[in-house]
Amino acid sequence: MRALLVSDIHANLEALEAVLAAAPPHDVVWNLGDIVGYGANPNEVIDVSRRLGQIFVRGNHDRACSGLGGIEEFNPIAQRAARWTEAVLTGDHREWLRHLAAGPIAPDGPQVSCVHGSPLDEDEYLLTVRDAWPSLHDAQAHITFFGHTHVQGGFATNGDEWFRLAPRYSGSRGDAVEFELPLREGARYLLNPGSVGQPRDGDWRAAFALYDDAQRLLTWYRVPYDLREAQQRILNAGLPDRLASRLREGR
Ligand SMILES: [Fe+2]
Repeated sequence: MRALLVSDIHANLEALEAVLAAAPPHDVVWNLGDIVGYGANPNEVIDVSRRLGQIFVRGNHDRACSGLGGIEEFNPIAQRAARWTEAVLTGDHREWLRHLAAGPIAPDGPQVSCVHGSPLDEDEYLLTVRDAWPSLHDAQAHITFFGHTHVQGGFATNGDEWFRLAPRYSGSRGDAVEFELPLREGARYLLNPGSVGQPRDGDWRAAFALYDDAQRLLTWYRVPYDLREAQQRILNAGLPDRLASRLREGR
C-alpha cells in the first residue's frame, strides 16, 4: 500500500496541482488538514481534495473557516483570511468542512495514525524533540503522520535515543527533489510531509510525502509550482499582501 500524504494545502490550487502532477503512483491519499485558509482558492481546492480520497483529518483552519470556532486565537492576518474564506465558501463545502473528523484517525490498522497537530492535541505544534517526546512516548501507533507546523521532517525514537529527522536535498531551489527515509522495525516515528500550500521551512517549493508500508519507506518531495499565479490570486482576492509575499520566502 502506497499512501500519498498531503497537509496544509491552505487553498493554494497551483501548489496542489503541481503536487498531483509530480506524485508517484499511489493507492490512497491521506490528507492531514488545513485544506483551506490563507490562499485564494478554497472551493477549488476542496473539490480537488474530495475527488482524491476519503481520509481527512480536520485542521484548525478548516474548523475556524467553517464557523466551528478558534478564529479568536488567530493573528489578525489569519483572522482576515479565515473570515474571507468563510464568506466565499459554498454552503456544501462549508458543511463538508464542518463534518471532518478531528484526529487521531487510523487509516490502515492500529500501527499508523494521522493527526493534524499532535496525537494529544489537534492544535499542538510539534517543532522540537521536546515537543514531540510526550506524543512519541504515549502513542499507540508506531508511525504518526502530522502537519500543522508547515515544516517537512519529523522525530523518531528507538526507546533510548531521540532523533530529529529532516530531508537533505541537493540541487537548486528550482528543481523537483526527493529524499528517502527507510523506516526501522521497532522504532517510533512522527512524520510530517510538509505543507503543500504555505511552507515555513525556508523552502518555497510545495511539500508532500509518500509512505510505502511494504517497503517500510517514507519519501519526502519538494516540487516547484506557479508561485506568481498563486500570489496574484491572493492579491486579486483582496487578501493581506503578506500572505502572497511569504509564499516566496517559505516562511
Ligand atoms: Fe496549517
